[in-house]
Amino acid sequence: MWGTATSAYQVEGAPAEDGRGPSIWDTFTHGQGGTYTGENGDVADDEFHRYREDVAIMQRMGVKSYQFSLSWPRILPSGSGAVNPKGWAYYDKLVEALLEAGIEPFCTLFHWDMPEALGARGGWRDKDMPKIFADYAAVAVRHLSDRVKNFITMSEVMTFIDEGYRYGSDAPGFKLPMAEVNQAAFHAVLGHGMAVQAVRANGRKGTRVGLADNCVSTCPVMANEANIAAAKVAFREENARVLTLVQEGAYTESYLRFQGPVAPKFTAEELKIISSPTDFTGLNIYEPTWVRANPEMDRGYEVIDPPKSYPHLAAGWLYFGPEAMYWAPKLTESLWGVKEILITENGAASADVPTKTGEILDTDRVLFLRSYLTQLQRAIAEGVPVKGYFLWSLLDNYEWSDGYAVRFGITYVNYKTQQRTVKLSGEFYKEVIARNGLV
Ligand code: FCB
Repeated sequence: MWGTATSAYQVEGAPAEDGRGPSIWDTFTHGQGGTYTGENGDVADDEFHRYREDVAIMQRMGVKSYQFSLSWPRILPSGSGAVNPKGWAYYDKLVEALLEAGIEPFCTLFHWDMPEALGARGGWRDKDMPKIFADYAAVAVRHLSDRVKNFITMSEVMTFIDEGYRYGSDAPGFKLPMAEVNQAAFHAVLGHGMAVQAVRANGRKGTRVGLADNCVSTCPVMANEANIAAAKVAFREENARVLTLVQEGAYTESYLRFQGPVAPKFTAEELKIISSPTDFTGLNIYEPTWVRANPEMDRGYEVIDPPKSYPHLAAGWLYFGPEAMYWAPKLTESLWGVKEILITENGAASADVPTKTGEILDTDRVLFLRSYLTQLQRAIAEGVPVKGYFLWSLLDNYEWSDGYAVRFGITYVNYKTQQRTVKLSGEFYKEVIARNGLV
């Protein structure tokens, strides 16, 4: 199932329309947030008004599914309590347009834009947030599950926790001590578990749910037996805070030992909720983490930091490593025997500049996608149950604290005119979808 992905704050714009309340990203970008040149998502791609055009682009590309996120403050402007009925109007129209075009909607409940009223209470620091989030999930699923069959509870717990609560580089901009960061991460994962239960209790028959996790994709630096075994141990340990916790219903012993006095506090009952079974395991895969066996290390493996010369795409963090797309699904399956994996995000940033004739010839993005998809094919050929792939992103959009400078789209957006132009990578993806294979 070939899809594309976006998120509400990154594409919608229209922050004050139809009764939307403020989100922590409005506050952050309009305050001292320190985003790239102070840019914000006030307009973004204006998808709120241009969704028909974007659906048509997908339809022409042959895209089978669209992962979008709900803006929580459109539905619950003050975070909880009264639902804003007008908030549904946009999503009802978007879903209708997708279904008419034969595109399966995948709805993410939380892709970082929490209502400001909840951010002001401390966001995920607040011990009541898991329940508040689950109540919102229930509202969303009751409204949408007659048309939307697939829900993603939240996207990239460790990114929004580390950037938003530890380093302060994303909303809500907190720089907390580790004990509080760990506790906030725990609340978020508990929110996922409670939301899974809310989806089960409120969704119509056939409603499916899972998490989109940006797992640490440990790859053996050379695939000999010792390094493969080390990568497997490393995958479980490096993902202890989210994926391992969700799959096993427990933190690893060494994670708790390393954290010592700053380890999160939890109950056995909460761990059970966190490990509520899901219908699919969503993995967001971008960069590799290279490891090798090292018997001298406490856990028998060593993470190798990239040298300065290591190649990356046009986002400084995005190291090139197609093998991540093989090892992450492979290890997920071999550790936990999951039945269905979806690649919930994968994509590349390029320094796109239109040619004189207006084309965007992003051969680096095509190289990236072809290389990663080749490794995905390798995993599938070995029986790893990957059932779908969502390319980040359908179109250039507001790349959080990097503003509009970093472009991830397979469709170019001219932010002055909002004109969309499918890039070479978009043509490539169209061919891949048509052949259901590489080109
Ligand atoms: C992921 C985020 C997504 C986008 C891509 C490039 O970490 O989930 O919103 O920023 O990176």
